[in-house]
Amino acid sequence: MPRFRFDRRHDLDTDDFDDIDAVRRHPAPSRRRSHPRVADDDPTPLLIAPGAVTDESFADDRLPAGATLSTYPESDHGPRPVPGWVITSGDAFDVELGVVKTGKEADVDLVQRVDMATGRTVLLAAKRYRSAQHRMFHRDAGYLEGRAVRRSREMRAMGNRTEFGRQLIAGQWAAAEFSMLGRLWSAGVPVPYPVQMSGTELLLEFIGDVATRTAAPRLAETPRDRDAARDLWQQCVAAVLALGAAGYTHGDLSPYNVLVHDGRLVLIDLPQVVDLFGNPQGLEFLARDCRNICTWFASRGVDADAEQLTRDVIDAASP
Ligand SMILES: Nc1ncnc2c1ncn2[C@@H]1O[C@H](COP(=O)(O)OP(=O)(O)OP(=O)(O)O)[C@@H](O)[C@H]1O
Ligand SMILES: [Mg+2]
Repeated sequence: MPRFRFDRRHDLDTDDFDDIDAVRRHPAPSRRRSHPRVADDDPTPLLIAPGAVTDESFADDRLPAGATLSTYPESDHGPRPVPGWVITSGDAFDVELGVVKTGKEADVDLVQRVDMATGRTVLLAAKRYRSAQHRMFHRDAGYLEGRAVRRSREMRAMGNRTEFGRQLIAGQWAAAEFSMLGRLWSAGVPVPYPVQMSGTELLLEFIGDVATRTAAPRLAETPRDRDAARDLWQQCVAAVLALGAAGYTHGDLSPYNVLVHDGRLVLIDLPQVVDLFGNPQGLEFLARDCRNICTWFASRGVDADAEQLTRDVIDAASP
């Protein structure tokens, strides 16, 4: 198959993307005009020139500056069927476009993956769990109590918070979120598709505007609009019930862990999802999640009753 050769005329100006929140404030659509497109109906900016076809085999030293080969082939993959938009080829490279948000426990960065055979590109959200000293461990205590780690050397390292132990904990959080996202995506819960996991890094479906590379706003940041709030409330109830039907509650549900893109609600940040009946505090977590989200919707003029929602989830979860 013919390959496209990277053309340095279209080199990325990654310095411009070190803060997506800044990009959100100052979207720069003009940046897109300098990039050729795959097709008119594909809004994704292209990083390689379609004219530059070559039969030479691809070599690492011809990757564009700052790009690395795709790690998809050697990573754990999300659930099947893998959506058609995912670039699964090993003949692809990744370019870091900058920080979406630094969180308490992880940093989320924007990554562009480019298929070298076709020139197709896709944006991904890279969630990287921190293992360093400054990472906050507020969710770790319950986690360590709740899930036994059999190997005592690892348990000791995690308990003593050695660097090795911190790395292990970060990896466990990443693995917990990755498997939960896969399970929930397959069950039809509105969550980002988990593309791959390697170590403490998850690559997820990017929720946001691809053309301007702008992450979707969190629910808490959406403009005041009673009709829109009512529609989002319906979606939120459906999402919470679908989670319940799968046997879970989010565990940290708030208007900051819900994104809204083009009017569509997506739940994010799911490493601590709680088993409703397997966890002794499952129903308490459920009640808290319902209270948190209902308080926010009520502040937007929606008739959102936390106790009713809690009961409805329990009904949906009961066999
Ligand atoms: N798939 C995604 N697509 C677009 N943006 C995302 C995605 N996942 C996360 N984000 C952005 O990154 C932020 C942090 O993600 P997340 O809540 O999963 O991590 P966190 O470490 O728990 O952060 P926080 O402490 O702020 O809750 C989100 O609020 C959202 O703005
Ligand atoms: Mg969060």
